[in-house]
Amino acid sequence: MKKKMSLLKIQFFGLLVVLSTSLSANTIENKVNVIADIQRGQLLWKKSYKGIPPYEQRSCQSCHGKDLSQVGHHIKTKRVIKAMAPSVNSQRFSNPRKVAKWFLRNCKWTMGKECTVQEKADILAYLKSL
Ligand code: HEC
Repeated sequence: MKKKMSLLKIQFFGLLVVLSTSLSANTIENKVNVIADIQRGQLLWKKSYKGIPPYEQRSCQSCHGKDLSQVGHHIKTKRVIKAMAPSVNSQRFSNPRKVAKWFLRNCKWTMGKECTVQEKADILAYLKSL
């Protein structure tokens, strides 16, 4: 009886491993399938979204400014934000964890929701083209 149990356990964990490998394979596939569009990214970047007062009109430009080769100013703290264009700021988008962190925070604040993988790819393609 004891032997049978351990065999079941092995089968169960084996199944788990197979499941988790195929799940992560799917996730990678989804990311690869996204085709980024610079123009769509530019539209998303410049679009104005509705927010709650005192910031009723929000856009990525609210803090990063209209000319991405120049510094921006944080709409709340007024702090200077370095230029977003990689052509003038080679540090831009060099750290994937930083990119992910700010996409999450800034999409939520600006658009009132998280950006989709597609939206992030489009916006990043636009920004990297500058
Ligand atoms: C409320 C102000 C604010 C708004 C609005 C804002 N950002 Fe930002 N963003 C920041 C700050 C502050 C940083 C971090 C400082 C830095 O990187 O210079 C940053 C950094 C980033 C970064 C990381 C850049 C890097 O070098 O890794 C990305 C990507 C980004 N923002 C995207 C967006 C997008 C997309 C929008 C619009 C949906 C947006 N931001 C709107 C303030 C803002």
